[in-house]
Amino acid sequence: MIYPITAYGTPLLRKVSDEIAPDMQELPQIIENMFETMYKSDGVGLAAPQVGKSIRLFVIDASEMSDEDENLKGFKKVFINAQMEEQWGELWSFNEGCLSLPDIREDVKRNSDIKITYFDENWVKHTENFNGIKARIIQHEYDHLEGKLFIDHISALKKRLIKGKLNAIEKGKVHTSYRLNVYKK
Ligand code: CO
Repeated sequence: MIYPITAYGTPLLRKVSDEIAPDMQELPQIIENMFETMYKSDGVGLAAPQVGKSIRLFVIDASEMSDEDENLKGFKKVFINAQMEEQWGELWSFNEGCLSLPDIREDVKRNSDIKITYFDENWVKHTENFNGIKARIIQHEYDHLEGKLFIDHISALKKRLIKGKLNAIEKGKVHTSYRLNVYKK
């Protein structure tokens, strides 16, 4: 099942997501639906708040980007109850976008290295280090669990410049190839 994507302006995107209980019956189905939704909308990552669920879950499949960076070959993962342990290394810029913020792309500075603890889809616990693009994608998705968006990392000036676009998304006045769920006040 393909979920609609939660648009910028929805309060749920600004909430800190809840921990998931290991006995959550619907979880495997939600994970499958999230992958399906992500592929359908050409994303490389998708966090549960973006499909209207305030739970600590995100999925990534960046294997399509392996021509840009061969480390990304087969980089497909499920992160349940992720906790960021550390972020370090040089701050580097990368042009980011987000399915919840269609038509907006901005350079975002993030640390090059992370250490993160999470459970995979089989509830096996991992503590792993990632760097480069892998760390970047994880940091972006992890932010969603904390109620943060990539535009929170850009300058006040740049944010002013995209204010019109943000207002348009909030009102649903944006064209997307996927279904967008706009918040009705
Ligand atoms: Co995003």
